[in-house]
Amino acid sequence: MTTITKLESKVKELSKLLEALKELNAAIDLQDIFQGILDQMVMIAEAKEATLWVLEKEKNQIVAKASSGTSTESLPTSTLSIGEGIVGKVVKTGEAELITDTENVINSSVAYLSPRSTSILTVPLLAKGQIIGAIQLNDKKDGGHFDTRDRELAVILAEQSALSLHNSQMYDELYKMFVSMIRMLAEALDARDPLTKGHSERVARYAWLIGKRMKLDAQDCFELYQAAILHDIGKIGIEDRILRKTTGLTESEYELMKTHTEIGARILSAIQPNRFFQKSIDTAMLHHERMDGSGYPKQLKGEEIPLFARIVGVADAFDAMTTVRTYSEGMSVREAAAELIRCKGSLFDADIVDIFIEILENCSYDLQSFPKTDAV
Ligand SMILES: [Fe+2]
Repeated sequence: MTTITKLESKVKELSKLLEALKELNAAIDLQDIFQGILDQMVMIAEAKEATLWVLEKEKNQIVAKASSGTSTESLPTSTLSIGEGIVGKVVKTGEAELITDTENVINSSVAYLSPRSTSILTVPLLAKGQIIGAIQLNDKKDGGHFDTRDRELAVILAEQSALSLHNSQMYDELYKMFVSMIRMLAEALDARDPLTKGHSERVARYAWLIGKRMKLDAQDCFELYQAAILHDIGKIGIEDRILRKTTGLTESEYELMKTHTEIGARILSAIQPNRFFQKSIDTAMLHHERMDGSGYPKQLKGEEIPLFARIVGVADAFDAMTTVRTYSEGMSVREAAAELIRCKGSLFDADIVDIFIEILENCSYDLQSFPKTDAV
């Protein structure tokens, strides 16, 4: 099995797992899950302040991830070792702790609490028999003390929340693996053609910056980044004698090269479920379409070309122009920008070109000072 085939089947496996987890209602943003759990807990127990702590097993530490009524920065520490403080103790034993005599606790080694607290309830987050963290509640809103009823309620709620938290953590991990697989797939492609090394990554970065400036939401920006990094994946199916040719292509070779758009769409369509990849499939197929209908493979015009394909079209052309290849010197950034402007409206979407020029102006036409992407 070639590296690429291995990677492809790994991506397929991971996308199936991701889909299965999505069915379990896992959200992408773990922070939202943390906050949601905490807000529910505060409401049920009528607590004044609360913090959610997550066990990071590989680092052997417990980290404050969310808070309510206070901020995690205001805590004496946001990292504990297992067994340290009340939270550390609850994570170690898996037993809830209800403390009403805070005087003695504050003076002992298990403190790490606001000295104002008079009542503290700490419950473990247990999922499938495993401790994944703890929630600490400080003080009742009405000034009273937490009682055993609060403790029971909090334990039940924590049990239910822990399962969804556990699913989300798994989803988050898989998601990161999935993204790194996509990256590896693109790198494997770039490695076949050393002349265009890093092309996919750069195009993805430019496209992502354009998407962000267009105020696309975080999910769309990520999907755009994914689509851009995979836009040329079909070149996997182009023979080396054409792909690595250092002189100009003959007409028939160029015709073959053009098929990378359809090959790419076919490769990505094979990944199930393909709704994860629909925009990437379209982008692979249509990133060489041009506004005046002179592109390929379908000769689409204007807004018939999907937005992501129009964005990647601009980013791709810019990178091709500014990269030194054996058969071309590579233009300066300013020259490439002038070329984009010259072809705006005819070949490229005028609004997208304007946005990209703004980005270039903001970094004084110096690609080294381009903002880094936090897309992945
Ligand atoms: Fe392409």
